[in-house]
Amino acid sequence: VRRGALLYEGKAKQVYATEHPERLVVAFKDDATAFNAQKRGVIAGKGEVNSAVSARLFGLLEAAGVPTHFLKTLSPREQLVRAVQIIPLEVVVRRFAAGSFAARYGVAEGEVLEPTVLEWCYKSDALGDPPLNDDTALALKLATPDELRALRRLALKVSEVLGDFFASRGLELIDFKLEFGRAPGGELLLADEISPDTCRLWDRQSGERLDKDRFRRDLGGVEEAYQEVARRVLEDA
Ligand code: C5P
Repeated sequence: VRRGALLYEGKAKQVYATEHPERLVVAFKDDATAFNAQKRGVIAGKGEVNSAVSARLFGLLEAAGVPTHFLKTLSPREQLVRAVQIIPLEVVVRRFAAGSFAARYGVAEGEVLEPTVLEWCYKSDALGDPPLNDDTALALKLATPDELRALRRLALKVSEVLGDFFASRGLELIDFKLEFGRAPGGELLLADEISPDTCRLWDRQSGERLDKDRFRRDLGGVEEAYQEVARRVLEDA
């Protein structure tokens, strides 16, 4: 494949056309933002870590029956993916209380959530990704009722598969964010990325945070945490 025109540049990735209209190249950047881009920085090596970790996890999910946009790795920070129309919903899955959930409801971080909590946010930088419920998502025509049901089922499947996988690597999957897209035929595909940028991952022994919270909260050891996640996720790849 040839990398063509830059179609889109986001906070953490660039998307390029290819000679094939149904294939795109995604390039992962080292740039990091938090709190709706109010905090900005660079995490050295993040692009390579996130691309490699995400590729591995999407491969696992595909094998477990979750359709994804991922096709193949092109270079350490570039992937070939299927073109999709992104559904403007961030699908947040919470297995343990943390972050904005812990703050909003006044519960301690690390408390187990039964059942696992699924939240939708409207993907809009201008509005700061506001949370919404099913009725709001339907009234705003962001997805159909069938799509919302399918997104919920797929997101919970991802939680099961990745929760078990990370546990086998000594990591507790606390919460994470997914994005989905529609393939040309309407099929829902898992898109975007799954990485320490989009998951909270805590060491199961020490409780140490090995994810973007180190950047958000100025905890130090940011690069080291990303490298450690890559080491554990990729050790037998
Ligand atoms: O900040 P909050 O607790 O709502 O985040 C929940 C989960 O979703 C975290 O794993 C966080 O990394 C992820 N997230 C994300 N992108 C956003 C918002 C949250 O990846 N825009």
